[in-house]
Amino acid sequence: MSCRLGVLVSGRGSNLQAIIDKSKSGEIDAEVVVVISDNPNAYALARSKEAGIEAIYIDPENERPVLKGSAEDNYINALKKHKVDLVCLAGFMRIVKEKIISEFKWKMINIHPSLLPSFKGLHAQKQALDYGVRFAGATVHFVTGDVDGGPVILQAVVPVYQDDTEEILSDRILKEEHRIYSEAIDLFAKDKLKIKEGKIFIEEKNE
Ligand code: GRF
Repeated sequence: MSCRLGVLVSGRGSNLQAIIDKSKSGEIDAEVVVVISDNPNAYALARSKEAGIEAIYIDPENERPVLKGSAEDNYINALKKHKVDLVCLAGFMRIVKEKIISEFKWKMINIHPSLLPSFKGLHAQKQALDYGVRFAGATVHFVTGDVDGGPVILQAVVPVYQDDTEEILSDRILKEEHRIYSEAIDLFAKDKLKIKEGKIFIEEKNE
């Protein structure tokens, strides 16, 4: 049975689209069963509807950055109602806290546009350019209470060129995001991710 995904989004949803496409083509052993947004105008919601996937706006009931209070309960209930096996944060612009994390312990992952633990938080690509690093990238990691700090599942590296703008570098990283997020989901779906002493090991087992 394929892995049931609940995807939380706030904006354009290009990672969501990559996941939907790869699930529909059978490249990954997972299907998106619900998409939830804290922003009623998120383009990600339109993408979901277009794909025939249930897409819901749930009022976050407070200003960013934290998902909390009764809104947090509403998110948890919606994800449970759809019996999700894995929660994927895909450009969800809120910090998730203990309650929802413990409901989906080791069942919630995020993508961040940097080589963590470098450049956590907002505008990671700009942080990389401002620092002057030669390589940047993307990281898929499990979500823990440590923001952008949970155990790493997969990373991808891209070069940084001297004339890069934030937009150019972001696009280069985004292509890799679209690749590794689905790969990480597939590894989870196939039960190949093992946690040992706070680190993730990928099992080489036959399908
Ligand atoms: C991506 O860069 C992701 O890494 C970050 O937010 C952005 C979301 O983009 N967390 P999209 O909505 O998936 O297009």
